Amino acid sequence: MWKLREGLQKPSEFTMAQIDVTMISSILLFIIPYVFPKLWLPFKQYRLGHSDEEWKDRIIYQILTDRFATSEETSEPCTLLKQYCGGTYRGIINHLDYIENLGMNAIWISPIVQNKEGSYHGYHATNFYTLNPHFGSEEDLVELITECHKRDIWVMVDLVFNHVADMDEDFSHIIPFNKEEYYHPICESKDDWGNQTFCEDCRLSNLPDLKQEDSWVTNELINWATWIIEKYKLDGIRVDTVKHVPMFFWKELRQRMPNVYMLGEVFDDRIAYIRGYQEHMSGQLHYPLYFVVKDVFKKQNGRTCHDIETVINNCKEAGLDETTLGGFLDNHDNARFLHGFDDIIAYKNALALTLLHVHIPLVYYGAEQGFNGGDDPLNRESLWNTKFNQNTELYKFIRILTDVRKTIAIKEEHIQRYKTDDVYIYSRGTVLVCTTRIGGGNSLDTLFVAYNPYKKGDKLKNVFTNETQVVTDAGVKVTFSDGQPQVWVKV
Ligand SMILES: *[C@@H]1O[C@H](CO)[C@@H](O)[C@H](O)[C@H]1NC(C)=O
Ligand SMILES: *[C@@H]1O[C@H](CO)[C@@H](O)[C@H](O)[C@H]1NC(C)=O
Repeated sequence: MWKLREGLQKPSEFTMAQIDVTMISSILLFIIPYVFPKLWLPFKQYRLGHSDEEWKDRIIYQILTDRFATSEETSEPCTLLKQYCGGTYRGIINHLDYIENLGMNAIWISPIVQNKEGSYHGYHATNFYTLNPHFGSEEDLVELITECHKRDIWVMVDLVFNHVADMDEDFSHIIPFNKEEYYHPICESKDDWGNQTFCEDCRLSNLPDLKQEDSWVTNELINWATWIIEKYKLDGIRVDTVKHVPMFFWKELRQRMPNVYMLGEVFDDRIAYIRGYQEHMSGQLHYPLYFVVKDVFKKQNGRTCHDIETVINNCKEAGLDETTLGGFLDNHDNARFLHGFDDIIAYKNALALTLLHVHIPLVYYGAEQGFNGGDDPLNRESLWNTKFNQNTELYKFIRILTDVRKTIAIKEEHIQRYKTDDVYIYSRGTVLVCTTRIGGGNSLDTLFVAYNPYKKGDKLKNVFTNETQVVTDAGVKVTFSDGQPQVWVKV
């Protein structure tokens, strides 16, 4: 008994001193990150990704890894767009300034896993557990992600859960799904994408369709996803071909990683349909808005600016939360906005509308260079031949928009302020976004936005020209000349 007490007492005296040391170091541990946030960044422990909420103040730059930059700083354009062009992780690392100066604070890169020979885009996987060597070594990928994190740029990798590479029905080459039983049987019926069963069970472009009803397949896919996110410290994932995989799979994936932002691709303009997927994957590409905005500003399919209000109202009515959606004007699956349409000024209006809206904005590489490629693969141009010019009209324009975007609080709603067939004006907080589709070379009579978020006497600045005005009883004066958009902020 006594011995035990003695034994207890001595160490406890010793512990008093230790407590001081422990206390001081834990206080320091708490203080250092706040006092020296930049210093702390490389040591920060990454949890499994970042949540939907955390992603809301990000602006995502979409990169096709094979097309952005080469390790050797090639300057000739790639002409054979159906093959590998030579872009690498090293190339991206060397041009992070270009991405950062554009105001981007996240990137989405191509799928990283080993692919069938020739599949430069990365969507035809052969081995889920090895990397595509065309894009560089594993060290290069890790370095890219580390360098991005040092700049507070988040990294999103594209993951494919629906299909694997077409290897002429020889599944032994697909790792780990190396048996025919892991796939849906080939469908006899013709393409019938409006039929959900067909959509989920049949092959897309003859790519073997994984059978998620097999619990081994589902578990393996989900384990793989958590492994890859953890191993490479990914901040979020882009999820390919969502409507081609049954809903129960997305539900299980979400349950395993409730705090990882997933940007799903449901290539569809039906709001209620996308709302269905949002139940288990709140981030979805904002296709409903994309189709409308493209038609409105390119003046096609009879749509007018009124349709912008309609689609936003329809999202609200359907309970589709736009704040976690990814909004875009261009991507690798669609002809670029400027394809067959050379009005950069109309494009600027569409960009202003899209980049400042409540969703998470995406910019597809090359938009800042005015790329105008057509359908896949023409919309997958090499960027290096632009010499990463940061002085183009669109590069500078997008940079101004991303600066404004970062001043808008996430909670600020989109409030429609004025519209006609050709004009759409909205505010978020005290930012007034004035867009028109009249196009370059055209002007409109001066108009006044009486329903605005300001008080009489407030001083406003147009972020593109630095022109100022004082708000009067008549409202905010907007003169669209040469079709240019205006964005007014309070000064
Ligand atoms: C939908 O597609 C599946 C698979 O091809 C087929 O079996 C089913 O008959 C189709 N349903 C309808 C209503 O056409
Ligand atoms: C507007 O003012 C900013 C900051 O002073 C300046 O950098 C920018 O060049 C000006 N823009 C124009 C179009 O004058």
